[in-house]
Amino acid sequence: MSFPVAFYSPVASITQDEEKARKAKMAIIIERYKEKVLALPRKEIDTNLHLCKYEGFWYHHGFWLHSNANFSVEAIMALQDEFQALPTDVFLASQVKSGTTWLKSLGFAILNRAKFKIDKDSCATHPLITTSPHDCVPFLESESFLNNPSYANGLMGTHIPYTSLPQSIISSDCRIVYIHRNPKDMLISFWHFMNTLREDGSSPIKLDDTFELFCKGLTPNGPFWDHAIGYYKASLERPNKVLFLTYEKLKEDTYNEVKRLASFIGSSFTKEEEDDGSVQEIIELCSFKKLSEAHKGNKDGSHSSNGIYFRKGTVGDSVNYLTTEMIKTLDEIAKEKFDGLNISF
Ligand code: A3P
Repeated sequence: MSFPVAFYSPVASITQDEEKARKAKMAIIIERYKEKVLALPRKEIDTNLHLCKYEGFWYHHGFWLHSNANFSVEAIMALQDEFQALPTDVFLASQVKSGTTWLKSLGFAILNRAKFKIDKDSCATHPLITTSPHDCVPFLESESFLNNPSYANGLMGTHIPYTSLPQSIISSDCRIVYIHRNPKDMLISFWHFMNTLREDGSSPIKLDDTFELFCKGLTPNGPFWDHAIGYYKASLERPNKVLFLTYEKLKEDTYNEVKRLASFIGSSFTKEEEDDGSVQEIIELCSFKKLSEAHKGNKDGSHSSNGIYFRKGTVGDSVNYLTTEMIKTLDEIAKEKFDGLNISF
């Protein structure tokens, strides 16, 4: 299985004018879907966070968080109406805080390894280091029509649940790679992330509150379990089109999982590359250590600061925060939701 993927030229942070244009386009989209969104069930989580339920999942709507509305439900509706996938596209899908940044880094480094060399000398100039994994692989929700008309470039990230993806993604020949993470670790990562974003003097969010909302499925693109189930089932039904990875397996057996990823996205490593250490170089470039060090200075709590995507990068950190009772509850929910499915929790 092999198919061409266009090289992507990373864009560094967008200019103020571009940001203005993006907001203006988003405002038009918000207006277009106003009536449809008003009819949706909604929950007011706090004064800054209102979620509405669309096709079984919870989303922000309108402008949210630093006026960055890229992940709002209106963007998804517009994509469903307008987006045309190309058969050569590769979508890297995930729930928030489940390994998106890592998967994007690996996908980008693999597909662009001929263009951006990864030996020790050139590592410092690699776009994953000089820009960020999220610049290199933008989100479908934010870039496809809001900002970058030549969206394609072959490789996009998305948090949209499988069942709400634009129809052209499902019906075209493109590949989808999903990364799943243990729900307990994802929850703790999410809680830390939300508090990092609030490092502006407002009081921290309590873990109890985040836990309660998470259990009710009330996280962006949640319920978490349903999100994973959609992609998992698709990977069984369409194994050549949808690959289901886990953060934990990627940690445990990085070498083989990276080879599996490369082969699935049509960019298998040659025997020479395996022998000359190219696979290992990609793994090291995309490692938590390398990327977090490269971006650690950039952690000012805004959406555009890349450092906020790196915290610990370990498996099992949730035991340091969750009570025995919380773990029991989360395991019970997962057991029930994932019943009969081989999804780890
Ligand atoms: P922790 O908060 O548990 O450390 P996402 O990229 O979906 O936002 O997920 C963020 C989580 O992935 C964070 O987990 C972050 O530290 C971890 N992470 C980011 N880059 C990583 C990498 N290259 N390797 C492993 N984990 C990474």
